[in-house]
Amino acid sequence: MKRTPLVVGNWKMHKTGTEAIRLIEDLRKSSLPSNVEVAVCPAFTALSDAGSALRDSPIRLGAQDMYWEAQGAFTGEVSPLMLAAAGCRYVIVGHSERRQFFGETDVWVTRKVQAAFAHGLVPILCVGERLEERDAGRTDRIVTEQTEMATGELSSEQVVNLVVAYEPVWAIGTGRSATGEEANRVTGLIRRALGRRSGGASAQTRILYGGSVTPDNAAEVFGQPEIDGGLIGGASLDAGKFTAIVRAASRERGNL
Ligand code: 13P
Repeated sequence: MKRTPLVVGNWKMHKTGTEAIRLIEDLRKSSLPSNVEVAVCPAFTALSDAGSALRDSPIRLGAQDMYWEAQGAFTGEVSPLMLAAAGCRYVIVGHSERRQFFGETDVWVTRKVQAAFAHGLVPILCVGERLEERDAGRTDRIVTEQTEMATGELSSEQVVNLVVAYEPVWAIGTGRSATGEEANRVTGLIRRALGRRSGGASAQTRILYGGSVTPDNAAEVFGQPEIDGGLIGGASLDAGKFTAIVRAASRERGNL
C-alpha cells in the first residue's frame, strides 16, 4: 500500500508574519523533491502572510491547534471554519505541549479531530508517552489509549485520511531522538490500534515520527517501514535543515 511521505514543519511559537514569508521564500527557492508532500504550520498570526507566500506552491499550510466549535463566544480561540478559510489543509491536534502546558485532555482532542474532518481539514493527531510513563514500561498502553480515544468515532474513510504523529514527549526539543527501531515499533502499534476499529483502513494512514529529527538522523527515521514522514520542530525553522530532512524522506520513502 503506497503512502505518500509527508514532512510537516511545526514552527511552534516562532516567526512573525514577515519572518514566515522569508522562510517560505527560502523553502521555495530550495527546489524540494516532488515525491514528498510538505506542509508548514505557522502561528495563527502568520497564517495569512504564509498563505499568500505559498500561493501556487505545492507546500501545504497547516495550523498548530484550534477549538472545535465553528464560531461563538470563545475568547481567544480560533475555529476550524477560520482555518479552512485561511487556506489550511492540516491542523495539528493534541500536541504534547498543549496537553502538558494548557491542560488539553483526550476528550478535547477527540472533539478536535472530529471537528477538523467536519470542516474539511486533515487532523495531524499527536500521541506519545512521557518519560516517567516510558520508564514505568507503560509506553504501549498510553499510546494505544490515546489513539483509540481520539479516533474511536471515525469512519474508515476518515482513518485513511487521518495523519498521526508519534511524538515521545521525552524526545521533543531535547536532542534525544528515539532510535529508528523503537519509533518503528510504536508506530506499528499505533497502526494496529487504528486498524482494529477501521477494518484495516489504517494500512493507508500516514503515521509520522516527531522528536528531535535533524538532517543527521532523518535517514534512520525515514528508513523504517512503518514511518511515513516527520513532524519537525526546531529543525523546521531553518530552510537548509528542513530541506535536508525532506530530501532524506524522498530518498528513503519516495519510491515506495
Ligand atoms: P523538535 O523537532 O524540536 O524536537 O520538536 C518536535 C515536535 O514537537 C514537533 O511537533
